[in-house]
Amino acid sequence: MTKRVTAAVLLVALGVSACRPATTSGPAPATAPAPSTPSVAAGDARYSGTFSGGWRFPEAREAAFGASAMVASNSDHASQAGLEILRAGGNAMDAAVAVGFALAVTYPFAGNIGGGGFMVIRMADGRTAAIDYREIAPLAATRNMFVDEYGKLTDKSVVGHLASGVPGAVAGMDAALQRFGTMSLAQVMAPAIRLARDGFAVDSALFRSLSGAKQRLCRFEGCATFFPGGEALPPGARLVQPDLARSLRLIAERGPAAFYNGPVGDSLVAEMQRGGGIITKQDLQAYVPKWREPVVSTYRGYTLITMPPASSGGITMTQTFNMLETFAPLPAFGSAEYTHLLAETFRRAFIDRNAKLADADFVPVPRDELVSKTYARSLASQISRTQASKTPAFTAGRPEPEHTTHYSVVDGRGNAVATTTTINGGYGSAVWVRGGGFFMNNEMDDFAAQPGSPNMFGLVQGEANAVQPGKRMLSAMSPTIVLDPQGQVLLVVGAAGGPTIITAVTQVILNVIEHKMTLADAMRAPRMHHQSLPDQIRLESVGFDSLMVTALRGMGHDVVTTQGIANVNAVMRVTGGWHGVREPRGAGLAVGY
Ligand code: DON
Repeated sequence: MTKRVTAAVLLVALGVSACRPATTSGPAPATAPAPSTPSVAAGDARYSGTFSGGWRFPEAREAAFGASAMVASNSDHASQAGLEILRAGGNAMDAAVAVGFALAVTYPFAGNIGGGGFMVIRMADGRTAAIDYREIAPLAATRNMFVDEYGKLTDKSVVGHLASGVPGAVAGMDAALQRFGTMSLAQVMAPAIRLARDGFAVDSALFRSLSGAKQRLCRFEGCATFFPGGEALPPGARLVQPDLARSLRLIAERGPAAFYNGPVGDSLVAEMQRGGGIITKQDLQAYVPKWREPVVSTYRGYTLITMPPASSGGITMTQTFNMLETFAPLPAFGSAEYTHLLAETFRRAFIDRNAKLADADFVPVPRDELVSKTYARSLASQISRTQASKTPAFTAGRPEPEHTTHYSVVDGRGNAVATTTTINGGYGSAVWVRGGGFFMNNEMDDFAAQPGSPNMFGLVQGEANAVQPGKRMLSAMSPTIVLDPQGQVLLVVGAAGGPTIITAVTQVILNVIEHKMTLADAMRAPRMHHQSLPDQIRLESVGFDSLMVTALRGMGHDVVTTQGIANVNAVMRVTGGWHGVREPRGAGLAVGY
């Protein structure tokens, strides 16, 4: 890694930090230059940097600036929908719910009403909250429903009608709006309804993703809508979704009852019956989103507010930050020492995650112990600075591409909402609800469908996360709000990418608060990943210097390279407003005013 700090210090504000960025050059320096403790946050000096020679995201990329408010999501139309609501006087929650419903229309491979998600909220008056609207296993689900008569794991947790959990998206977004929003459901859903009813122009990203999914999708009912005449709608064509428009209109008019106890739910149940699925009316009526106590932790004076179970994101990130804090100040970004420390701390946090975390309503989760600084110190004390450890052997699988989406919203009053939502795989289970106009999730694969066998992310999980009726499958989604040492919102961040969500969000936060990067650089910086099993470091190619890779191998790490890790959308406070950056590796828009 040859990341260096250019002499050009980007003074975001009148900061007085004498901090030295941990971004100084040099492959794998034996003693890395130490960053000083962050002294001020938003008003801090930040540094633009350059990364390894062939790194694909050029330096000149800039963040969007908004003096008052900012939305960052994976869809231009959805971000514009959020902006429209903000401009009309809505707050961050009103805008977040508008973005969520718009994503269900314009980003159908991840945005949804047939899936679920998590939201972390921090209001300007200091209130914090977290809502869990994760899918739940249908009442007729059984522990071994995805294992065949020979004891072999089938693909039914991934494709087709059995793969779906009971969706939580509509109930969750409505509950969040009722508690923290200022507008009606009909008002915030108006942009989504318009986009579904009148259509929008397909862009090249949607065309590519549809083309890649054609075989799966055309096994089910969505084929005619997305592949009229048998081919994916080409860029520039108008995608009109009348069935979805109708479903959204019904939800806007009647509230979540239209989905959980009304015509939209009836279409969903009919679809299940047609395809051998097990979600019933009773399942829909029983669904409730849950308000959870956010996981709140500190890292070197900053406060992290993030998601508790049924997501593993908050606890696993907190464990990692707590371990890393014992090594602070951390080695330079891109050095072998730094990447090694990340790998070893992620490894330990994921070992706990995969064995101990699950839906805490079903399984006792030792949350307080796991997030305690004492426990982190004991884990960190086992880490060698020069030698890789080994994850205890287990079968490990190959990770696959997938789809989820995160969006970050802040408003002019200082309210902040971080939301991650998913149908798990791209276009979920590929099942499209006839008459309802939406894709169903394949979230059942996030359970340990066969404890000890890898799921589609290669995650090897234990008994705690086995399938049980009514239980939420463990997630990695990590919507997070970071407060600066003065207690102001600094960063609103989260990601898509299965387990890489946890590691990517951690790295973007570290890039900002430890390495003092601008948000644009923190986002474009090359990422690494380690999830304990498979026991390997994944590095984005060619973001890291080959000498650094050699050094990591010398420490005993198995190192592989990969094209892109995770899909993050983030907003950061800067002097006079907000920076927003959408994922450079994906599509989308950050827009503010
Ligand atoms: O909840 C989870 O952890 C997964 N269902 C997330 C899937 C995901 O991020 C796919 N995204 N690109």
